[in-house]
Amino acid sequence: MTSSIVRKPLLRVLAGEREPVPPLWLMRQAGRYLPEYRALRGQAAGFLDLCFDAKRAAEITLQPIRRFGFDAAILFSDILVVPHALGQCVSFVEGEGPRLDALKEPAALARLRTELDQAVLAPVYDTIARVRQDLPPAVTFLGFCGAPWTLATYMIAGQGTPDQLPARLFAYEYPEAFAKLIDLLVDASARYLVRQFKAGVDAVQIFDTWAGILPAREFEMWCIRPHARILEKLRAEIPGARVIGFPRGAGTELGRYLDAVAVDTVGLDWTIELEFARTMIQKRRPVQGNLDPLALLAGGAALDRSIDAILAALSEGPFVFNLGHGVLPETPLSHVERLVERVRRVPRLS
Ligand code: CP3
Repeated sequence: MTSSIVRKPLLRVLAGEREPVPPLWLMRQAGRYLPEYRALRGQAAGFLDLCFDAKRAAEITLQPIRRFGFDAAILFSDILVVPHALGQCVSFVEGEGPRLDALKEPAALARLRTELDQAVLAPVYDTIARVRQDLPPAVTFLGFCGAPWTLATYMIAGQGTPDQLPARLFAYEYPEAFAKLIDLLVDASARYLVRQFKAGVDAVQIFDTWAGILPAREFEMWCIRPHARILEKLRAEIPGARVIGFPRGAGTELGRYLDAVAVDTVGLDWTIELEFARTMIQKRRPVQGNLDPLALLAGGAALDRSIDAILAALSEGPFVFNLGHGVLPETPLSHVERLVERVRRVPRLS
């Protein structure tokens, strides 16, 4: 065991150990619910400019660590920097979300580069090096990427959609072109993660936000296999690279996912039933999750009850406390403070 693992509780859990107090971080912990984020965001021309401003991105990465003392810092960036570095035009419209020049038919794939333009991503690696220098030794530093399927849903639709219909249809209508796009994204993601490790992250998470909409066969083809191939390529260059897989919405497919994908830990979304998580998933692999972001937004008894149920079910095994998806921008800071106290069992004076 390396000395850095000894000092970092979250890395110990990823290595399969149980921590008496589960390490805690939150997806989207750096974001609009934080006034200090909104202040820096207000100074930037646009969201992507912020992602590529290494000094500010490093500062934003550290903001939630300073405020809440979380056990992990997650790189401040976005999954859509990868399509951007593949030559697709990406922008973010205030209050609406991402816009890309949609890949409407197979011929449009020719507009993409065949490899990542690493020069475009250089500021991300610079951000990582800066955070590394300032990070407290007990805090685990997480990099990330979007999974190929989730990236493809945005690249094909050109924006977020409620049901990912354009990408699902594209995959049925043009299976060869779609497989090529996934191959390109597997390769780009693996290279991107390799560079993140070389720049200084301790572990990475693969976000497959839209995995849950796929039928079983397509889940195998567009979620399971691409994740497995990214891990193979990554570990060929970074042996033992620690990876958290987050196939959101996978439900009962999680078992098949774990059969084929050698992630160290699996992220559970808030719909996963806790007894199923404990007996069918955590018996096989450390787990991370799965508080409903809406319970955190609601606060009060609903929040306390949800936290306690999760701790009761999962804290006897290797476990990382997290949300089942990202913090919502409207979430009150006091609810996050309460969450931290309750998970860490800090006695309350009032
Ligand atoms: O978790 C963190 O704190 C690290 C940073 C991070 C962001 N996005 C910052 C962000 C991470 C890990 C992501 C991942 C991401 N981005 C995913 C996968 C996880 C998920 O949330 O489902 C996806 C699908 C995206 C794409 C994306 N980025 C969308 C659809 C949007 C618009 C919706 C929204 O929340 O605004 C974004 C914007 C975005 N990414 C913001 C932040 C802080 C808000 C932008 C702003 O400040 O204006």
